[in-house]
Amino acid sequence: MRVETILVPDPGPGEAVVRIQACGVCHTDLHYKQGGINDDFPFLLGHEAAGIVESVGGDVTDVAPGDFVVLNWRAVCGRCRACLRGRPQYCFDTHNARQKMTLLDGTELSPALGIGAFAEKTLVAAGQCTKVDPEVSPAVAGLLGCGVMAGIGAALNTGQVGRGDSVAVIGCGGVGDAAVVGARLAGAAKIIAVDIDDRKLEAARTMGATHTVNSRSTDPVEAIRELTGGFGADVVIEAVGRPETYKQAFYARDLAGTVVLVGVPTPDMRLDLPLIDVFGRGGSLKSSWYGDCLPSRDFPMLVDLHQQGRIDLAAFVTETIGLADVEKAFARMHEGDVLRSVVEFA
Ligand SMILES: NC(=O)c1ccc[n+]([C@@H]2O[C@H](COP(=O)([O-])OP(=O)(O)OC[C@H]3O[C@@H](n4cnc5c(N)ncnc54)[C@H](O)[C@@H]3O)[C@@H](O)[C@H]2O)c1
Ligand SMILES: [Zn+2]
Ligand SMILES: [Zn+2]
Repeated sequence: MRVETILVPDPGPGEAVVRIQACGVCHTDLHYKQGGINDDFPFLLGHEAAGIVESVGGDVTDVAPGDFVVLNWRAVCGRCRACLRGRPQYCFDTHNARQKMTLLDGTELSPALGIGAFAEKTLVAAGQCTKVDPEVSPAVAGLLGCGVMAGIGAALNTGQVGRGDSVAVIGCGGVGDAAVVGARLAGAAKIIAVDIDDRKLEAARTMGATHTVNSRSTDPVEAIRELTGGFGADVVIEAVGRPETYKQAFYARDLAGTVVLVGVPTPDMRLDLPLIDVFGRGGSLKSSWYGDCLPSRDFPMLVDLHQQGRIDLAAFVTETIGLADVEKAFARMHEGDVLRSVVEFA
């Protein structure tokens, strides 16, 4: 990672320039840096951000300079097959800025998830700006732009967790803990948190986990079955993105239960499962992009719940840091020291 001067073009039609106030460090940024997403280097990392709209292109009417917004990576097109079927959360043609941000020598940058917000200013499609209550702190609001929304949505939208359900969450980082929060919000009776780090399990408990399992020392499939009367959980959410943890999720769910994969695997990973088990155990195996959210519907709603004290999004912010500290934040994430480090801009 290097801090560089970049050129941000004035917004063209359908675009907006946003002055970033805060941007969380998500594991997906680390995936980008390590080449785990694609090879379109150099990247402009950072995508969990909130800030103030500074300027908009001529035809932009939904947001205006001065608006406090959370940036999203699902600016729905309204015209593709998914949108026309009334399922915009699966939009196949989401919008990003058309113009490119560049280095001083003209090298084009690839903004992470079409955002690129480890920067004082960034250029996005206007539809990527979602207005929320400006009373909420930027560090908290920004987290809705990715990991927290992905986790809460994995439980509420993709997993369809219902009142009284048993839920297990494998991997309790920012995304997994948000899934815990989502499961609690939905009224799950039992929420089992699984991780290999006791500090993460402790945090998951404060977020609403009713039971914890350290899978370094205990077989998580057996433990989850034991905690659910021998059956397995109704919904198991995998928030790591690895074949071995996916297999744990697959076998830790009850017959006819649901597995939600919200962790992001790298392209080289393979899964080997007996097909007879996929068939015989019934239920559904789903993946969750961005928690199947609709930013315009879900961001303001979650800000409201936070403001009312019904969810505590501030608990996800372990530390606030400067732009030069992102590399250190990756190391701390790798060591399991943080849920979220959030870069704040003066
Ligand atoms: N689907 C989406 O839309 C979406 C959005 C954001 C992030 N993600 C992905 O979600 C995953 C988690 O992201 P994060 O920001 O919470 O990362 P994180 O690094 O904060 O958390 C990962 C957690 O998994 C735990 N873990 C690692 N290996 C494990 C194992 N074998 N068994 C159990 N736990 C294990 C770690 O201890 C850590 O607590 C990443 O793959 C990230 O790319 C997906
Ligand atoms: Zn669409
Ligand atoms: Zn992310």
